[in-house]
Amino acid sequence: MARLSLTHHLIRCEREHGLDPDLRLLLEVVARAVKAISHAVGKGALGGVLGAAGSTNVQGEAQKKLDVLSNEILVEANSWGGYLAGMASEEMDGPVGIPVAYPRGKYLLLYDPLDGSSNIDVNVSVGTIFSVLKCPPGVTEPDERSFLQPGSQQVCAGYAVYGPQTLMMLTIGHGVFGFTLDRDTGSFLLTHEQVQIPADTGEFAINASNMRHWEPPVKRYVNELLAGRTGPRGRDFNMRWVASMVADVHRIMSRGGIFMYPRDARDPGKPGRLRLLYEGNPMAFLVEQAGGAATNGHQRILEVLPGKLHERVAVFLGSKNEVDLVTSYHRA
Ligand code: AHG
Ligand code: MN
Ligand code: MN
Repeated sequence: MARLSLTHHLIRCEREHGLDPDLRLLLEVVARAVKAISHAVGKGALGGVLGAAGSTNVQGEAQKKLDVLSNEILVEANSWGGYLAGMASEEMDGPVGIPVAYPRGKYLLLYDPLDGSSNIDVNVSVGTIFSVLKCPPGVTEPDERSFLQPGSQQVCAGYAVYGPQTLMMLTIGHGVFGFTLDRDTGSFLLTHEQVQIPADTGEFAINASNMRHWEPPVKRYVNELLAGRTGPRGRDFNMRWVASMVADVHRIMSRGGIFMYPRDARDPGKPGRLRLLYEGNPMAFLVEQAGGAATNGHQRILEVLPGKLHERVAVFLGSKNEVDLVTSYHRA
């Protein structure tokens, strides 16, 4: 039997779970933008898309050409459909509204247009992460406050990974489904149904070069993993770190594992490196929907009340028993 297309799957969600047709159409637009980004990423040096843009974003990070281009693709694609009231992105200082020429919709879209920027120029997997919230009732011109909702309010989250295959993983709160881009036809086809992350794992992901800056619970947890078979855990653990959150999370979606980007003493004012609203929250929603767990060491990421648009968060996510263990060390 032929594989289900993304469109067919979303229509099925409309019939079975009452998925709002406007949200379905919004997801189709995001999928189209993802295809355009995938195409640009795939051209590499031939498309003149590699290298620095020569600008910095509001967070003080140097932007790559593909960060800027991917952001522009997403803004353009989502401006005119009538499904959104506003958008916010890692690469834009504040929220952007919908041009006056177009109708306003009831959703807010947040995204990291190109995740894993340090990997762009070395031909390693990068991705796009996105989150959809409802615009608060009565708000037609959303401002920053409209976006400051806990992740538990997300109606949809997803990511695309631009790797050997372009793949999009989605949740609307009824499990996680994955779609592979068929480059011959340009369609996303259902290849991953009801993804489940095993509760136990022998694999962890963390940038260990920061070990000296970590807080004691994280040092304790990782040292116990590193001690291997003769240590307190009584088994050997393997380590992986792609440095693209999408790729690391996708590996965990595929075969389990724990991903950590803890807060550290390099910049004590910041609660972590990753951003809550368009990295932590969508990934936490997906991981929980796949049976995993996601905390900031103290509480579910999805319950953190955001104070600002580009707020950072510590992230521990993936196989439930390992996330529970490292979280329990923060209470000890
Ligand atoms: P972005 O490229 O969107 O700024 O995000 C990069 C993030 C994340 O993808 C990855 O897990 C992490 O930064 C890598 O950080 P290190 O370079 O500190 O390992
Ligand atoms: Mn990112
Ligand atoms: Mn990014």
